[in-house]
Amino acid sequence: IKLGILASGNGSNFEAVAEAIAQGRLNAKIQVLIYNNPEAKVAVRAANRDVPAVLLNHRHFPSREDLDRQIVQTLHQYDVSWVIMAGWMRIVTPVLINAFAERIINIHPSLLPSFRGIQAVEQALAAGVKIAGCTVHIVVPEVDSGRILLQAAVPVLPDDTPQTLHQRIHQQEYRILPAAIALAAKQGAGTSWEQRAK
Ligand code: GRF
Repeated sequence: IKLGILASGNGSNFEAVAEAIAQGRLNAKIQVLIYNNPEAKVAVRAANRDVPAVLLNHRHFPSREDLDRQIVQTLHQYDVSWVIMAGWMRIVTPVLINAFAERIINIHPSLLPSFRGIQAVEQALAAGVKIAGCTVHIVVPEVDSGRILLQAAVPVLPDDTPQTLHQRIHQQEYRILPAAIALAAKQGAGTSWEQRAK
């Protein structure tokens, strides 16, 4: 399957997907990386793996919809069939979601539906949960919602800081993101759980 990856920052999940492909664990090709922050390290990772990278700086677009229109155009230009949000720190609009309905995947560092939003790891620590984790899900307009593909749990240890806990969660993200992409591609887009159960 032909992937387009959206990422804003470090891009270790981008790396995990690229590595899964290189090792033959995921039958896919990364057609393009789209990133929104000129400083993002993920751009260097893409260059190292010969993946075309397109910078779409959100500050240069008057609205979220305008940015998303350009994203959709770029994804079509690179013949993308599935979109992977791997640390994409922008809220996406129906402009993007409807253009790739049921074909956009997000990774989030909590066991959804707990701790939506950008402070998920900090909130899990503050809540005192003893088990944290990560979720890969299909993207719908409501943030950090939508059908769950895979989850992984990790323990919260007594001395954890947001950094040490996030580090432990990351290790699981690298495992379940490629696996969830393979799973989603196998299931196909546009079918509900109920339809598949029949
Ligand atoms: C991950 O923890 C992901 O769950 C969240 O943003 C982080 C991205 O990390 N949405 P990286 O840029 O892939 O290293």
